[in-house]
Amino acid sequence: MSTDKPGVIAPKADLPTVVVGESVVGVAVVDHEPQTAPQPVAAAAGWPPRFSCFVTGTDTEIGKTLVSSAILHSLVRQGVRACGMKPVAAGAEIRDGALHNDDADMLIGAGNVTMPQSLTTPYMLMEPAAPHIAAALEGVTIDAVPILAAYLEIAAASDAVVVEGVGGFCVPLNDHFDTADLAQQLDLPVILVVGLRLGCISHALLTAEAIAARGLTLVGWIANEVQAEMAFADENVAALQQRLGAPLLGRIPRLAQPTAAAAAEYVNLAGLPNWPTRRNNQ
Ligand SMILES: Nc1ncnc2c1ncn2[C@@H]1O[C@H](COP(=O)(O)OP(=O)(O)OP(=O)(O)O)[C@@H](O)[C@H]1O
Ligand SMILES: [Mg+2]
Repeated sequence: MSTDKPGVIAPKADLPTVVVGESVVGVAVVDHEPQTAPQPVAAAAGWPPRFSCFVTGTDTEIGKTLVSSAILHSLVRQGVRACGMKPVAAGAEIRDGALHNDDADMLIGAGNVTMPQSLTTPYMLMEPAAPHIAAALEGVTIDAVPILAAYLEIAAASDAVVVEGVGGFCVPLNDHFDTADLAQQLDLPVILVVGLRLGCISHALLTAEAIAARGLTLVGWIANEVQAEMAFADENVAALQQRLGAPLLGRIPRLAQPTAAAAAEYVNLAGLPNWPTRRNNQ
């Protein structure tokens, strides 16, 4: 992995100093300092505006992978080189001599850029458990630096990157670093998947607050019907439309075949910042 590109994570000795007013108050680090300002890695690399996003959700198992895949599918349909990233995957099995994770496989299947799995999923953990627990079982400490460096490698090889988070927005990755810190350090616009079920209104509003508290922008949300029939689903969606302060990008019904293509039929991403206009090269 190359480390000499502009914007690639610098060794700690070279990290920028945080200045507040005239006072030097500390040194920005890419991990273990969640209170520091976001590190706009791609912007720092001097790249032109491009579509990339961080997909989070109100919970685990509510459709983040389905939505991330749908976004990738839509990007590919626009004729751009799109790559998914599941930086931390917990729950892997060995098939044909290689480690596999369902989320990672679905994202790979929906994109059209082939990258080594060591980049698209730098932390592929065997145990289907909370990531910091699954990592500890393998004697691994999840760290921001390999993830950010991998993101830059992927971004350099593609036009658009879709990063799927893990579980909800604030899942611990190590003792001092969680998925919200990761989103902040990637400095990506956030898309929130709301799994429509009882309790989702509060989960969604709390997540939106946490996203704003990190200085990130919630660019849109998608309602996903994870349950066959939720009572008052329309009313829940309306309550969130009124309160979330970001556009509803779509509502995905309970699908008989929950594929990227099927889900993509129900989302409209055209209004998102830097969404690509159609290229006819594919
Ligand atoms: N609208 C839907 N219709 C039918 N099945 C769905 C729908 N949304 C999600 N599912 C199914 O629910 C399960 C969980 O969805 P998904 O894997 O996308 O959730 P997730 O939020 O990414 O979960 P995790 O936290 O494990 O990453 C999957 O089996 C998926 O196919
Ligand atoms: Mg997933």
